[in-house]
Amino acid sequence: MCGITGYTGLNQAGPILLEGLRRLEYRGYDSAGIAIQSERKADADGSESAGSSIKMLKATGKVSHLVEKFEAEPDFKGVCGIGHTRWATHGVPSDTNAHPHLSADGKFAVVHNGIIENFAEIREELQKYGIEFKSETDTEVIVQLLAYNYKGNFKKALMKTIARLTGSYAIGVISDEHPGTIFAAKQASPLIIGIGIGENYFASDITALVSNTKNVIDLDDGEVAEITPDEVKVFDHTGKEIEKPIRHINWDIASAEKSGYDHFMLKEIMEQPQALKATIEPRIKDEEIIFEELNIDMKKFNRVHITACGSAYHAGCVGRGIIESLCKIPVEAEVASELRYRDPVMDEKTLVIVISQSGETADTIAAMKECKYKGATVLAIVNVVGSSIAKLADYCLYTWAGPEIAVATTKGYTTQVVLLAMFAVWAAGELKTISHGAYTTMVKDIMRLPERAQRALDLNSRVKKMADKYNDNQSLFFIGRNMDYAVALEGSLKLKEISYLHSEAYAAGELKHGTIALIEPGRLVVALCCYEKLLDKTISNIQQVKARGARVLAVAHEGNRSIFAEADDVLSVPVTDPLLVPVIEIIPLQLFAYYVALKNGCDIDKPKNLAKSVTVE
Ligand code: G6P
Repeated sequence: MCGITGYTGLNQAGPILLEGLRRLEYRGYDSAGIAIQSERKADADGSESAGSSIKMLKATGKVSHLVEKFEAEPDFKGVCGIGHTRWATHGVPSDTNAHPHLSADGKFAVVHNGIIENFAEIREELQKYGIEFKSETDTEVIVQLLAYNYKGNFKKALMKTIARLTGSYAIGVISDEHPGTIFAAKQASPLIIGIGIGENYFASDITALVSNTKNVIDLDDGEVAEITPDEVKVFDHTGKEIEKPIRHINWDIASAEKSGYDHFMLKEIMEQPQALKATIEPRIKDEEIIFEELNIDMKKFNRVHITACGSAYHAGCVGRGIIESLCKIPVEAEVASELRYRDPVMDEKTLVIVISQSGETADTIAAMKECKYKGATVLAIVNVVGSSIAKLADYCLYTWAGPEIAVATTKGYTTQVVLLAMFAVWAAGELKTISHGAYTTMVKDIMRLPERAQRALDLNSRVKKMADKYNDNQSLFFIGRNMDYAVALEGSLKLKEISYLHSEAYAAGELKHGTIALIEPGRLVVALCCYEKLLDKTISNIQQVKARGARVLAVAHEGNRSIFAEADDVLSVPVTDPLLVPVIEIIPLQLFAYYVALKNGCDIDKPKNLAKSVTVE
C-alpha cells in the first residue's frame, strides 16, 4: 500500500515525480503529494532568504488532482524531491494526512510506505518536548523525530531515528540543509534505487522508474542509502558502507503502459497467452519439467500446506486439488490472515507453499514466518523478482508474468495456477505417484495452455454481449464443483472487486443448504461446468435454480451440447485436462467482470477502497 518515489539530478523533479506517482498509483490512490528542495531566492543584499527551501504540494484523491495543482504552480521548481501516493491507514484521506510530512521546523520532509507500530509512544514523547503534530498519521513521527535527532549530521540523525521505529517502513527523506541529497531506508516494505547518469532515483518498485533507467539496486531490510545525482552509497544498520550489486531489468516500458488498451486490466487479460508461455516454456525440456531452482527432496514431506491472500489464495485452492490428486499427499489451503494466528500443526515434514503476485503481502509474509518458525520448508510462488517473500522463502519459483498494474489480478492468477500445476506434475514425477504416460500427457496439456487461453480470449465479443444482457443483476451467484468451485471463487471475487456488485461463490452442492432461499425470478447464476467428472451433479443444481426462476449463464467445454438445453446462455471454452480447467475457464469470467464494470462506469484499474499490494494487516 502506498507508493513512494524520489529524484535527484539536473532536471526538474516535479514532472519526474508525478510521472513516477502515476505509475505507482495502483499501490494506493486516495491522496498524493510531492516535496522538492526549491531553488532559494537571494535577498537584495545577496544573502539567502530565511525559511526552508522545502516546498510541498498535496491533493486529496487521485494523482491527476495533484498534477492539476502542479500545473497551476509555475514556480514549483527544484531538481531534488520526493513523492507519495497514499492508501490511508492512520487518518482519513485529506490534504493534511497526505504525504510528504514536514518536521515542525520545516527543515525535513518524508514519504513513507508501511506502518510505524510504536508511533503513539514516540509522538507522546516528542509532544512533551513541545513538538506539535499536524496530521493523524503514524508517519509524521519519523520526520519529527529526525528533526529532533539532527545535530548537523543527516545520516547519523536518520540512523538514530530508524533505530527507534518498530513496524514496517520504506522511506525517502530530504533536508533543507543538504541540497541534492535524498536518504532512503527500508524495513519490511519494498524500496529500490534507480541508477541513472548524473541523476538517481528511488521508488517502491520498478514500474515508477523503467522509463528512466533499467539499472537498480535492491535495498535490503535495515539498510540506508544516501542518494545524490552522481553517487549512491549504501550503509548497513551499523552505518558501515557496503557494496551492493546492480540488477539490470530486462522488461521495457511497454510492459508498464496500456499499449492502446483502455485499461491495464484488459491489456493484462489479453496478455495471458504470452504470460503463460513465459511461465511454462523455459521450464520444459524434451517433455520434462525442469525446475533448476528446486533442490527439494519431496520424499521428506508428509503433507503440504498452501497459504496466500485474495486471488493468490484462490490459485492455492486449485493447487490443492492438483497436488493432492497427482502426488497423493494431503494438502490444505488456507488464507494467510487466518493461518498466521491459528497455531497450525506443522513440522519439518511439512512443505508450505506461499503464493503472492507482489511478494509483499503482509499477512502472507507473517504466515510464512510462522510456518518457518514451526520448522516447515517454504516454497514461494511469486511474480515480483527480488520481493520480500521471494527472499524470505527457502525456495522460490517465479511466475515471470511481467508487471501487473491493474489492481484486480488476471495474468498473475493464471500464471500462479499453471506454475502450481507444473510443480504438482514435477513432484508427482519425483514421488513416482504418476505413470510415465500420464506425466507426458500432462506436460503436453500444459504446453497447449497458451494456445487454448488465446482461444478462450476469442470469446471477447460474446462475453461483452453477455455483460450487456446481465449487468442489471445487483446480486448474483457463481456455482461449481471441485475445480469449477475453485474457479467460482475467483470469478466471483473478480466481479465484486471491480463492478461493486454483490456476488457469492458457492460449491454447487451446498446451495440447497440455505443459499437457495435467495434465488428468485431473474437472479443470475453463473454455472461453471468444465469439470466434467461432476457435470451431471452440477446440471442437477442448475435445474434446481432454474426451477426457482433463476437465469443461468454457463461456462462449459466446447462440444458439450447437453448444457445448451439447461442454461439460458453458454460460453464454450477449449477442452483441457480436468486439473488444468481453471487456467482456461477463468478467462471468460475475467472478461465478464471487466465488461460489467465498464458498463456500470466503474474505475476498473483502481477499484474503490482497494490497493494492489497490501502491505498492512
Ligand atoms: C490484493 C489484490 C489481489 C491479490 C491479493 C494478494 O487484495 O487486490 O488482487 O490477489 O492482494 O496479493 P499478492 O500480491 O500477495 O498476490
